[in-house]
Amino acid sequence: MSNLRAKKRAVERLIETAVQAQKRAYCPYSRYPVGAAVLTETGRVFPGCNVENASYGLAMCAERAAIYHAVASGHDALKAVCVVGTAAKPCGACRQVMYEFSDKDPALYLVALSPATGRRTVVKPTVFKLLPMAFEPLAS
Ligand code: THU
Repeated sequence: MSNLRAKKRAVERLIETAVQAQKRAYCPYSRYPVGAAVLTETGRVFPGCNVENASYGLAMCAERAAIYHAVASGHDALKAVCVVGTAAKPCGACRQVMYEFSDKDPALYLVALSPATGRRTVVKPTVFKLLPMAFEPLAS
């Protein structure tokens, strides 16, 4: 398979994983389901969804759930990240967490999925683009 085709397939798989993860979101308080998936430099894909709690402040975003899932599985270098939601825009905390595991400026697939029509709109920035002047404890 050509490199380009393999890349296209990997992106499709990443997006599909995030779309499926959105369906598993636990969000009875906000009723705002978010799905995410990360592709690691090792070629693995990990899903995540938002998980809320009766104690509202304990909610965990989909992106961080996916990243922590990958890190806990021993895969801590991100190659690409996908977020699926009505408006797919990672919050500031998630941007900073993505940055932590992003040596090579991963592609970000932000998939706005209309619950009414099922229509998908994909915007593709990068992690570094979304968080200029990120916090770094070590001077570089
Ligand atoms: N949420 C995410 O999962 N990711 C984001 O980037 C933004 C917000 C979740 C948190 C909460 O469960 C719900 O969306 C509403 O804020």
